[in-house]
Amino acid sequence: MTAPEPRALPWPTAGIAFGGDYNPEQWPREVWDEDIRLMGDAGVNFVTLGVFSWGNFEPREGEFDFGWLDEIMDRLDAAKIGVDLSTPTASPPIWLHREHPEILPVTRTGQRYSQGGRLGWCASNPIWRRYALRVVETVAARYGSHPALRMWHVSNELGGGNRKCYCDASAEHFRRWLLARYGDVQSLNDAWGTAFWGHRYADMDQVLPPRDCETAPNPGLALDFSRFASDALLEHFLAERDVLVALTPDLPVTTNFMVSTGPHVVDYARWAPYVDITANDHYAAGAGAVRAQDVAFAADRMRGFNPGAPWMLMEHAASAVEWRPRNRANEPGELIRDSLAHVARGADSSLFFQWRASTAGVEQFHSGMLPHAGTRTRIWREVCQLGGILRSINEVAGSAVEAARIAILVDDEAGWAWNAGQKPHNELPLPQLAREYHQVLWERNLLVDVVSPLTNLRRYDLLIIPGLYLASNATARAIDLFVRQGGRAVVTFLSGIVDPTNRVRAGGYPGAFRDLLGVVSEEFYPLLAGDSVALDNGWTATTWSELLSSDGAEIVARYSSGPLSGSPAVTRRKVGRGEAWYVSAWLEQNSLEQLLSAAVAGLGLQPPAQAPQDVEVVRRVGPTASYLFVLNHGVESATIKVRGVDLLGGALIDGSLTIPAGMVAVVKEL
Ligand code: GLA
Repeated sequence: MTAPEPRALPWPTAGIAFGGDYNPEQWPREVWDEDIRLMGDAGVNFVTLGVFSWGNFEPREGEFDFGWLDEIMDRLDAAKIGVDLSTPTASPPIWLHREHPEILPVTRTGQRYSQGGRLGWCASNPIWRRYALRVVETVAARYGSHPALRMWHVSNELGGGNRKCYCDASAEHFRRWLLARYGDVQSLNDAWGTAFWGHRYADMDQVLPPRDCETAPNPGLALDFSRFASDALLEHFLAERDVLVALTPDLPVTTNFMVSTGPHVVDYARWAPYVDITANDHYAAGAGAVRAQDVAFAADRMRGFNPGAPWMLMEHAASAVEWRPRNRANEPGELIRDSLAHVARGADSSLFFQWRASTAGVEQFHSGMLPHAGTRTRIWREVCQLGGILRSINEVAGSAVEAARIAILVDDEAGWAWNAGQKPHNELPLPQLAREYHQVLWERNLLVDVVSPLTNLRRYDLLIIPGLYLASNATARAIDLFVRQGGRAVVTFLSGIVDPTNRVRAGGYPGAFRDLLGVVSEEFYPLLAGDSVALDNGWTATTWSELLSSDGAEIVARYSSGPLSGSPAVTRRKVGRGEAWYVSAWLEQNSLEQLLSAAVAGLGLQPPAQAPQDVEVVRRVGPTASYLFVLNHGVESATIKVRGVDLLGGALIDGSLTIPAGMVAVVKEL
């Protein structure tokens, strides 16, 4: 599928969007009065309605009760609160599941889910598609011209509850997808290497999804099924989107991604061109610096889909969620810091799940902007404070985050390929490697775009390729060109190992990048738990090492302990106007810091401002001014050098600004 041209549609709010999911149907009318009043107090200007409302406006098939939704849409309009109206397909009504249980997804062990969850449908089921599009048409026809409506929100977190479906309808759809990809069964056999175990298919009809069997599935099959699952959901998204675009061509359409470390169920980089505004749901994990970097990584990945364009933080939590084993509440100030960390990195919104904490239903203990305890609470005070802050910095909206000169290349397809089949190290959390490289740069306030193989690499000076297990020839060529034209690439172990069919590239590792790097690795030496290996420059590695030899590369460091003692561990090769590094081991934090110091040396990369440890600084640049976001994640106050106007306090800063522990400043620079 060729990606469409972007539609230039306006941002749905004047300035930064502030609000969240609003589920008024869970409450009596008198609560609505209070909701609208309190939204005014907090400065809410945007809410998402209708995400799970289908059964509430169509309680029986064909019997509609839109009165309540009409009323709340009107009330929100009167209060000048814009609406992001959702199609309600994230939650089919009970009557539909009773009538057509065959639309429910089936697990790989063959168990069909029952009613009562979310996203209880299979994207390949034609009956489901018919009902889904019918309800989308009904909603779009009824509300398409409502003055409160600013944007469409298709379903919710596609690929959440319905990650992958292994039912017969999916199997049939999968076979059609394979036919389009491979043309005939012989090419499919070649691609998947089905001569192994004699698992040749005589006919396309013999192919099944990778359902439960005695061993891991064929890696080619498993990878293609992951691609198919993402594409099947995309096809469903596009079917809903097309209905909306036909009826309301001037309104933006989005759907909420769940971008984090990945690999995701949905290949968001390949979906991004199909949404008018990229939107993310992010529930920060961990505490302290780990958590702050978790926010930064996701935000940098969101920005990487479309560098320079704003994106939307569609959901985050005002405090604890309820779906982790233990759910940590936010520390004082954390709500504001999290929100502004997203804004600093390009979000032109701060939206939450959800406005008012539910008292019933599965999510009854999920925090809300308005908690169970009401308005005499820390959460509510911070929500109102955040609303005020966003108003004070509203002019930031539309500005771009200062262009990053470093990119980290990640790819969900590569992650799926790594997760498919059996590997030399089956407990290796390969996607975590990108987070570790990102963390070192994040701690130095060197901005990174987390990009995909679809990204044009020309704008970057340094490209980090951490464990890009699958690389196509096109990706390898793009990276080769990047280096020849003057870029610097740092490629790690387990990159370029397989081609897009998940077949190992023979001739030595790291297959696709061997020539560029001037090295050959002949055997993997994964380390056992607790083991480590030394390098002769003082660095240490755990988890992974390999038997490497140079084929034209300069040796930066050799292994100096263990069975690989004396052989190269880290290399560098000048190619064209650039250089390419190879890192054959999983370096420990200190060693990684030194490696990255060497990798950035001479590139003239500077943070937006010199800041003490635990202080994050990011600059956004608008047409007439630039804005420095300073987030103090530490436990002590911090001082940085800056000149400008403190947009939160209004004061003129004549050279130095002190930010108390846990606080944030946004400075309009002079
Ligand atoms: C997701 C969903 C919301 C809600 C939150 C809870 O982001 O989109 O409906 O379930 O998780 O954290």
